[in-house]
Amino acid sequence: MKPISVGLVGLGTVAQGTLNVLANNREELARRIGREIQITHIGARSDRDGVDLSGIRVSRELMDVAEDPEIDVFVELIGGCDFARELIEVAIDSGKHVVTANKALVAEYGNDLFEKAQQKGVTIAFEASVAGGIPVIKTLREGLAANQISWLAGIINGTGNFILTEMRDKGRDFADVLKEAQVLGYAEADPTFDVEGIDAAHKLCILASIAFGIPLNFDAVYRQGISTIDLMDLDYAEELGYRIKHLGIARRTAEGVEMRVHPTLISETQLLANVNGVMNAIQIHGDAVGSTLLYGPGAGSLPTASAVVADLIDVARALTVDLTNRVPHLAFQPTHLDDVSILPIIETLCPFYVRLSVRDEVGVLALITRTLADHGVSLESVIQKDGVEGEPVALILLTHTVRERDVLSALAKIEQQIFVVGKTVVLRCEMLGDTV
Ligand code: HSE
Repeated sequence: MKPISVGLVGLGTVAQGTLNVLANNREELARRIGREIQITHIGARSDRDGVDLSGIRVSRELMDVAEDPEIDVFVELIGGCDFARELIEVAIDSGKHVVTANKALVAEYGNDLFEKAQQKGVTIAFEASVAGGIPVIKTLREGLAANQISWLAGIINGTGNFILTEMRDKGRDFADVLKEAQVLGYAEADPTFDVEGIDAAHKLCILASIAFGIPLNFDAVYRQGISTIDLMDLDYAEELGYRIKHLGIARRTAEGVEMRVHPTLISETQLLANVNGVMNAIQIHGDAVGSTLLYGPGAGSLPTASAVVADLIDVARALTVDLTNRVPHLAFQPTHLDDVSILPIIETLCPFYVRLSVRDEVGVLALITRTLADHGVSLESVIQKDGVEGEPVALILLTHTVRERDVLSALAKIEQQIFVVGKTVVLRCEMLGDTV
């Protein structure tokens, strides 16, 4: 059978990994697909030392690749939204299938791009856009297709997980670990994408759409990063039997869908709590399968290339499949996507961790617990940390499951009291049980 001709734009870490995987596993891949995959055209603005491109046409103008009539599949590995989108649109218009690792592009423009691809009869594959080498999109879209997914929760930003792990294990501060993550090449070009939860929100948006069959809606994802996490709270959480992880959570409720990315306390006995360093993991709960957990490298040259090449194989196989029988981009038929409402964060129901800084005086605890009770907030545990005489003390509260709106109203009232003397910290907890 005639080889599949691939054009690739970008010559960074993932592109180089893709070239390596295709070269190292050439025969094995041909055995799987029944034909060879050949990179015939690369678009890169400059050469890279040590990258052998002999026998491949190289263009400095990336658009030349998108327009090349000789290629069957266009692989976009440049990142960013504007130009990447333009290139992909041109590739689709000229009848090419597309493979991309670009989570921002899929999360923010995927609805339009998928519609365009559908009209043109081509496929856009994007496994590498979420959790690097972990085949989570394929798992959700195909392996778990029998299930109604009720929730998923994932550590989907390796940089954030690395920072929290180092802070907890070694007592290092945030800024110091972030610098190391940048040197190690984990962080995005703009590290605020990692530490402020934007990268995780892009990935969660994609996962939620595929899990529940809803249109992509990046703007509706609530996001909170880890840049304000204090070492003190990692220690207090530990005393309570919890770890703080930066989680992306999507949950289907009777009122709508929750999509949120934030630091979260989870029991130290949960598998997710023990996913450390730069690793990613996603726990998915389906009505038939129960809970499943996928674990692996969420970034890196070869792991991400593993996903890119798997997509190339899928596309190669799809070339001979009738359009109406292909796996839909967002797992559900485009005409059957459910435009459900996305719940505002204040509607979230979960237990809360609260750290108050208060004067150590008679009646303070009584007033706090009474105010919480008045708002229907019940407590699971309370710890008062011994302080220095005359100095404020930390009061750590763990609530039972309550609505966020109620806990915030109670705290607003408590913070008006003269005995509250510092910033209050509020973090959500998750049980990750049958109902999260
Ligand atoms: N910067 C991302 C992370 C890697 O730290 O997980 C690719 O998505």
